Amino acid sequence: PVDHRLSGKHVIVTSGPTHEPIDPVRYIANRSSGAQGTAIAAALRDLGARVSFVTGPAEVPPPHGVDVIRVQTAEEMRRAVEAALPADAAVMAAAVADWRVSNANGSKIKKDGSGRPPVLEFTENPDILAWIGALEAGRPELVVGFAAETDDVILHASSKRMRKRADWIVANDVRPETGIMGGAENAVTLITHEGAEEWPRMAKSDVAIRLAERIADSLTGSVLF
Ligand code: C5P
Repeated sequence: PVDHRLSGKHVIVTSGPTHEPIDPVRYIANRSSGAQGTAIAAALRDLGARVSFVTGPAEVPPPHGVDVIRVQTAEEMRRAVEAALPADAAVMAAAVADWRVSNANGSKIKKDGSGRPPVLEFTENPDILAWIGALEAGRPELVVGFAAETDDVILHASSKRMRKRADWIVANDVRPETGIMGGAENAVTLITHEGAEEWPRMAKSDVAIRLAERIADSLTGSVLF
């Protein structure tokens, strides 16, 4: 790459879904493809950053030239993020499962002939973004979260920015008719302490490049003209 604006900087990126086991062969998951997180990791790499890419079981392969840390569950993801610190920036693009099964079975659950299905109980997973945002020591200089919203996008994303102590929230409109979830394009609004900045609809790879440039501006305190 010709542009090394982020050389010497370390960025942690989370990506993909998490899988929360029910038993050794079954799990709870979500439809995240990992496309946006993967594109962000590649864009940061292209600016010269060292990237720790902490990924759940995504559909798209991880980019080359980054440190790939594969995890399954939210708890594993949190520990992997912790192990990757210190970092200059953290971009939390993973679709972390909000709950895990608290009564997961050590062996495959069998039909017992009674006709009664098993009952799953849930417990809340750690919120990795909120955890890193609130770190007293070793908090990355720039913490970026995502917010997939279906209504009142800016309102909900702004309150998420405050609640999770993120510096920025990349908000996207995931109403089914947008085709964004699982699609190649994204329409995002960047929420910072200065307000909301609506970006035009563009390829996820272009959102990633633009976001990486903004991260470089922020970490190096410079805007290139
Ligand atoms: O609250 P919500 O899930 O909408 O927040 C989304 C943001 O929080 C994303 O940046 C996501 O990666 C992060 N998150 C997390 N850990 C969780 C839940 C969400 O890091 N357990």
